[in-house]
Amino acid sequence: MSATGGISASLGIWRYNALWITFGIGGVVAYFIHFIYIIMISFKVNHRPVDVDASPDMPLLWVLRDLLGLTGTKFGCGVVQCGACTVHLNGEAVRSCVTRVSRAAGQEVLTVEGLSANNDHPLQLAWAELDVPQCGYCQSGQLMSAAELLRGFDLSPGTRFS
Ligand code: FES
Repeated sequence: MSATGGISASLGIWRYNALWITFGIGGVVAYFIHFIYIIMISFKVNHRPVDVDASPDMPLLWVLRDLLGLTGTKFGCGVVQCGACTVHLNGEAVRSCVTRVSRAAGQEVLTVEGLSANNDHPLQLAWAELDVPQCGYCQSGQLMSAAELLRGFDLSPGTRFS
């Protein structure tokens, strides 16, 4: 994704356009007013407590990437189609591009950075052994989706699938 694409996405230009088309100038004014409505939101990311100052409807993806510097989670489509932005919210895989950060308040978020401390999660080992990544852009989302799929199995670090 280009830098321009990232900035446009983080500013929610798509939403601006949708509001303009739907509600005219009133919708656009409301969109910019929502930037004034920034509050502190507390939750856990990768087992550590964090406090962020954000608009409650800011997508969790941009909070993770732009405010917390966790860039392992990627922006792909922004419309729940590709899965590149997948993280766990209380152990359940969610698409962070459309998950409001207010939904994470008081909850536990797990990103690919928190999957293991030393890149020794069984899925990460299998990914490397089987040369899964290819271009690698969406692999964090694939890993987080697979981790949820295998929930209930022994996924402690060092475990190997046979
Ligand atoms: S960025 Fe594609 S599903 Fe979220």
